[in-house]
Amino acid sequence: MRETVRPCTVLEGDLSLPGDKSISHRAALFNACAHGRATVTHFSSGADCLSTVACLRALGASIESTPWEDGSLRLVVQGQGADALREPEDMLDAGNSGTTTRLFSGLLASRPFLSIITGDSSLRSRPMGRVIAPLRQMGAQIWARRGDTQAPLVIRGGSLKGIRYRMPVASAQVKSAILIAGLSAEGETEVEEPAPTRDHTERMFRAMGAHVRTDGPRVTVRPGRLQAVDVDVPGDISAAAFWLVAAAIHQDAHIRVRNVGVNPSRTGVLDVLHAMGARIRLENQREVGGEPVADIVAESSQLQATEIAGDLVPRAIDEIPILALAAATARGTTTIRNAEELRVKESDRIRTMTEELGRLGARVEELPDGMVIHGGARLRGAACQSHGDHRLAMSLAVAGLVARGETTIEDSEAASISYTSFWQDLRRLARSS
Ligand code: S3P
Repeated sequence: MRETVRPCTVLEGDLSLPGDKSISHRAALFNACAHGRATVTHFSSGADCLSTVACLRALGASIESTPWEDGSLRLVVQGQGADALREPEDMLDAGNSGTTTRLFSGLLASRPFLSIITGDSSLRSRPMGRVIAPLRQMGAQIWARRGDTQAPLVIRGGSLKGIRYRMPVASAQVKSAILIAGLSAEGETEVEEPAPTRDHTERMFRAMGAHVRTDGPRVTVRPGRLQAVDVDVPGDISAAAFWLVAAAIHQDAHIRVRNVGVNPSRTGVLDVLHAMGARIRLENQREVGGEPVADIVAESSQLQATEIAGDLVPRAIDEIPILALAAATARGTTTIRNAEELRVKESDRIRTMTEELGRLGARVEELPDGMVIHGGARLRGAACQSHGDHRLAMSLAVAGLVARGETTIEDSEAASISYTSFWQDLRRLARSS
């Protein structure tokens, strides 16, 4: 599909966002391995999270899913423990979802049956050696294509032993895969991360009665069973980011996003936007089910250049495409470094963002591990391509709201990987007089 976006005179409104993608995956997966019945509300209806539900059902998990009026799903998961899961009859299809693939590899490594997990062409090009290496150290039998680096992954589950593992990359998916495997391993499992990454797994494990300890960069888990827990999934800050930047770079904007998860391991985007001088404030801060939540208000701002590097990168990793757009409209030159992980996301986001922002008239230089963005160029509408990447599709749509003339986005349907109502929300907020 191709969407066309034109600049709007006013950008205004209140929004409820899709449920957080990371928390949705975990709420379904962990409850399916737990004991008892759990209700998950505001579960993301994005295609990635549906892949997780479909894979769990293929393993015999009982999950009822009901569409809710706000576009989210309400799941009822009847967990009977991980031991109740059964060998799937066919390959597990993770679609576009790296999280599904990596989290499931941690689960399947200890299940006493054979499973094969694969996905679309983007997923099959992404690095899987990063989960295979530590799981093999735990004793897992696991193989993959291209010298055990790319999906499909073939897993013959069996008994595992706890390990101490220092992750070479800061990845919450790898950390989570090891912790999930650790629940069924003999002895303690310790993971050390090179920089802080999202800690939703640790929080949810604790809420489900698992023995998890966090000590600085080290997380330790002891074997044990999970108790089912109801989860009310907060709104996805990664989805909110598109509207926060849209408001900040538009000349007449006022947007309120409600009920957004503001876990500190995810709020790098707010830190960057504040450093750029964005008028963004958090209201009604509270805690829901062990996760901090707030409403966020964003308004038209004069943005300044900034630097994104170091520990900030994993805390803003999925928001860097939209932050690159913010930088392109800001005063001064923004540098993004230490972000080589962007090259192995749904697309090579350093290359694809450099290319697409360039089409819109921004001056961007590609670095091996980031970008140099010379701000201040007046963006002009262009024919753009999402490269099948949801975050590219949505970043380019936001660019279209401020660029002169018309912007078209090819393969715009990619947005529904994480945000099914994105295009409707855009039409509702953007007003032209
Ligand atoms: C995720 C972790 C991040 C992020 C992805 C979701 C998760 O990936 O980019 O969208 O839910 O754990 P990495 O942990 O591989 O960096």
